[in-house]
Amino acid sequence: MKGAELRRIQACIFDLDGVIVDTARFHYQAWKELADDLGISFSEKDNERLKGISRMESLEILLQIGGMSVSRVEMAELVDQKNRSYVNFVKKMTENDVLPGVRDFVQELQSHGIRVSVASASKNAQLVLRQVGLINAFDAVSDGRMVKRAKPDPEIFLHSSAQLKIPVSNCLVFEDATAGIEAAHRAGMVTVGVGNRKSLKNADTTIPGFAGLTIPKLCSKVYRNGTIEIEFGKEDDNAKKAKIL
Ligand code: BG6
Ligand code: MG
Repeated sequence: MKGAELRRIQACIFDLDGVIVDTARFHYQAWKELADDLGISFSEKDNERLKGISRMESLEILLQIGGMSVSRVEMAELVDQKNRSYVNFVKKMTENDVLPGVRDFVQELQSHGIRVSVASASKNAQLVLRQVGLINAFDAVSDGRMVKRAKPDPEIFLHSSAQLKIPVSNCLVFEDATAGIEAAHRAGMVTVGVGNRKSLKNADTTIPGFAGLTIPKLCSKVYRNGTIEIEFGKEDDNAKKAKIL
């Protein structure tokens, strides 16, 4: 790719819900139960708008869909109700719920000295990681309890890059939500959308999932229509570079 900007990737930051684990469906089921209780019609398409954003903002959208307005106290009760239902789903999760290929890919990155972290809007992120046996698999975890502003604000990704001590331009983000892709771009990072190419149009490139993904395969993807090229590792690390590329 002649003339493309070269980004040297030294850290990979993973969103959690819908990227590492399929908890997006549990969030949907828990919101759907609440919507049914409130008499609000709520579809999977509506749910796309809730992906990646905070619990309270999700409720605001749900109430807006239903044309309802309730007091702040009631809102706090409603998000608690939704969360209790969500946590019940999470508590049934096991190591088998890690999405295919995630463990192998994270291990490949670490074996090449690439730092890895989780950046999730969820306040339940640590619980989910513990539940599926990944709590010690990452160099850092940034979650919804550590930041003030939810995606699409870049704060959580900036928090992650600071924790990893890797500059933003050397970080690559895996995300399944458009709000998350926007947040990562605003932080100055390269993005890989995980899932459907059509619904993740703002990502630099997309992958269907991690099954069979390797560093060379990722490097061979076209980023932002050929305007960005990626390599893994440090510039002066010729041995590592030769091995990875
Ligand atoms: C994000 C999910 O990861 O976390 C959203 O994509 C969710 O759907 C948000 O609302 C907050 O999660 P939690 O667990 O703090 O309610
Ligand atoms: Mg997600």
